[in-house]
Amino acid sequence: MRTSTSAAAIRVLVTGVRGKTGAPLAELLVARQGVEVRGGTRDPSRPGINGVQPTAFSWDEPSGWAAATDGVDAVYVVRPDRADAPELIGALLAEMAPRTKVVLLSDKDGGHPGADQPGPAGWAPRVERAVRDSGRQWTILRPGWFMQVFTDPRFYRDQITGAGELPFPSGDALVAWIDARDIAAVAERALLDPGHAGQTYQISGPEALSLPRTAELLSAAASRPVTHRDVTIDEAVAGSEGFERDLSALTFERVRAGGFAEVTDTVEHVIGRPARTLQTFLRDAFRS
Ligand SMILES: NC(=O)c1ccc[n+]([C@@H]2O[C@H](COP(=O)([O-])OP(=O)(O)OC[C@H]3O[C@@H](n4cnc5c(N)ncnc54)[C@H](OP(=O)(O)O)[C@@H]3O)[C@@H](O)[C@H]2O)c1
Repeated sequence: MRTSTSAAAIRVLVTGVRGKTGAPLAELLVARQGVEVRGGTRDPSRPGINGVQPTAFSWDEPSGWAAATDGVDAVYVVRPDRADAPELIGALLAEMAPRTKVVLLSDKDGGHPGADQPGPAGWAPRVERAVRDSGRQWTILRPGWFMQVFTDPRFYRDQITGAGELPFPSGDALVAWIDARDIAAVAERALLDPGHAGQTYQISGPEALSLPRTAELLSAAASRPVTHRDVTIDEAVAGSEGFERDLSALTFERVRAGGFAEVTDTVEHVIGRPARTLQTFLRDAFRS
């Protein structure tokens, strides 16, 4: 484990370092020469990634931001999905030195018109605007749905492995699932390499799949039948409330309208190899 860094090291703060993109991003960054990585987490006492400095960071505790961001050259901001995210992110960036590079994890909704509307419809564009207006060098990442939702117990893992179903309100729409590790690889380049400032990257996987086809691939990987159930949006968001519920409902409306079907070549363009397929992701994820 690295215990000291040279004076010339680039310091990067990765918020959400235990998350789906934060963890693979931190692994990529520590593998680069001369990069000092701070891993932002609400609980820095838990074991982390080798070579990453666990760093207390919570959106609920702005008093800790100065210490977490002190001397950093670049920051990866995982957007907190809460109503006050535009204000929180604006306040965080205002604390950082003007030379700091910012890479924001947004989502496809960031590009939807409606920044002047209150509530979830205008929320993602307002978060992005807080970054663009921060006076820092910025890159914005707009990925679609992560493949990792199939293996995360907060999303669909337990329904897939338990009842053998994927309850997802898609209508006939397609989804171009993206491996979060590929988003991390794009983020790594944006944080460390020149040429990404002022770019907004639409990021998708390499193919758009129907939900029945997705369930077929899940069945093959999990060696058990998995069927798609096209539930209502109300069913899909049951159990959540307030802003979180409204945001999820809006996301599913946009899924149904085909808003997550676009396939882009951003991953290949930025990192020089194609984005991983769902089959590849599932083969790795379900290999025992
Ligand atoms: N899931 C998708 O398909 C998808 C698609 C497109 C965009 N996105 C966006 O990606 C982002 C991440 O979403 P995710 O649900 O997949 O989460 P995730 O990356 O798996 O986890 C996010 C991390 O946030 C940290 N966290 C939680 N509450 C926090 C707080 N109050 N202060 C600081 N850190 C906190 C947690 O780490 P600690 O417990 O260590 O603090 C957690 O590891 C969201 O903005 C989401 O909208 C997700």
